[in-house]
Amino acid sequence: MNHSIKLENIGCLITESASGFDYNNNTSLVLEDDCIQSIGSGSGDTIIDCKGKLVTPGFVDSHTHLIFNNLRTEEHRLRLSGATYEEIANNRGGIVSSVESVQSATPKDLFDMAIPRLDRFISMGTTTIEAKSGYGLTTESELKSLKVISNLSEKHAIDIIPTFMGAHAFPVEYEDKKEDYVDLVINEMIPEVENQGIAKFIDVFCEEGYFDIDQSKRILKAGISAGLKPRVHADEFYNFGASLMAGEMGAVSADHLMKIDEKGIMSLKNNKVVATLLPGTTFFLNKDSYAPARKLIDEDIIVALATDFNPGSCHIQSMPFIITLAVMKLQMTVEEAFLAATFNGAKALGLQNEIGSIAVGKKADLIVWDIANLSEIPYYVSNHPIRHVIKNGKLVFGS
Ligand code: NIG
Ligand code: FE
Repeated sequence: MNHSIKLENIGCLITESASGFDYNNNTSLVLEDDCIQSIGSGSGDTIIDCKGKLVTPGFVDSHTHLIFNNLRTEEHRLRLSGATYEEIANNRGGIVSSVESVQSATPKDLFDMAIPRLDRFISMGTTTIEAKSGYGLTTESELKSLKVISNLSEKHAIDIIPTFMGAHAFPVEYEDKKEDYVDLVINEMIPEVENQGIAKFIDVFCEEGYFDIDQSKRILKAGISAGLKPRVHADEFYNFGASLMAGEMGAVSADHLMKIDEKGIMSLKNNKVVATLLPGTTFFLNKDSYAPARKLIDEDIIVALATDFNPGSCHIQSMPFIITLAVMKLQMTVEEAFLAATFNGAKALGLQNEIGSIAVGKKADLIVWDIANLSEIPYYVSNHPIRHVIKNGKLVFGS
C-alpha cells in the first residue's frame, strides 16, 4: 500500500539545482513511500504543518568510525594538559587502545552500543552515515564489525554505508613485522570481505607511523580488485604524499587533509577526488591547523564535510556543529558548508543520485527545522532547532 505525506506551509524549501541548490519560498512537498513525489503541488494521506519554517535534505555524514566499544576520555584529559594525539598514540594510546575491547565484545555488545549513537545521529538531522570497521584488526573482528554495521543498517532507520578499514593501524603484536600485517589484510581480510559482500569501500590510514605509500597502494589495489571502492585518510598529521597517492589510485574521497600541499591539491583536482574535511577532529584534538578549504574550493574540488565520529580523535556526532566549525574555522560560507554536509557528502559516497538533496524521485530524507533560514544553523552552534526528521519517507524524529 502506498503511503503519502504532505509537508504543508513550508517557509523555505532547499531544492537541488545545477549550481548547488535553490530556495523555494511558501511551498509544499509530497512524499510517497520512501521517495519525494512532487514539489509545490499534490496531496497526502498524512499532513505535517511546517509552520512557515525551513525544510532541507537530511545530512550525509560520509566519514565515521561507528563501531567501537570503550571511550577514551583519559586521552582527552591528557591532551588538555598538553599531550598531542601523536605522542599519546606512540605510547600505545590511540587506535590500538580501542582494539582489545572490540575484539572481546560480542556482536550483540557492539550492536547495543551503537543503537543510541544512531538515535543521536537521527535526532541531529543525519539520515545517512558511512561507517568503517578498523578497531578489530584481526580477520574475525573486522568481519564481526562489518556484520554489526550491516545488522544495524537493516534494523535502524538510518542508512549505513559500510567501509572495510583493516588498515587503520598496525596491531601491537605486528609492530616488528608490519609487512606480515599488510599481507594479512591483502590475503585474508579482503578476500573474506569480498566473499561476504559486506563492504562498499576500502579505506587506509596513510600516515607517518601507520601505512606508508607503498603499503597503502598495495592494500587499495587489492581492495579494488575485490570490487571495493577506495578512500584514503590522507595528510592528517604529516604530509608524505598521501593525497597524491589518493589521486593516482582513483580514490572516491581523500579525507582529513589538514596537511595537504599544492601537489596533493592538484592530484585531487586532476583525478576528481572529493576532499572530505573533518574540522571536528582538528577542534577535538585542540589543534589549529585546519584544512585549507578555501584553496580546495577555489580549485573547483568538490568539498564534503563529515564528523569523523570516533572514540579518540573526534567524539562529535553533530553535523550542525561541523557546519559551525566550517564557517568559523574553514572560512566556508554557510551555503558551501551546507552543500558540503549534504549533496557533497552523498558524492563522497557515490550516492548523489539517490540522496543528499531534495528533488523529485530522490529519497525522502528531510529535516523540518524550527528556524527560518540556513544562517541560523551555525548561529545556534550547539542547539539544534530541529522539529522533525524524515528518513525514507517515515517520520523518525519529532512527532
Ligand atoms: O580519523 N585518523 C585515523 N583514524 C581516526 C582516529 C581514530 C582513533 O583515534 O581511534 C581519525 O581521526
Ligand atoms: Fe577517520
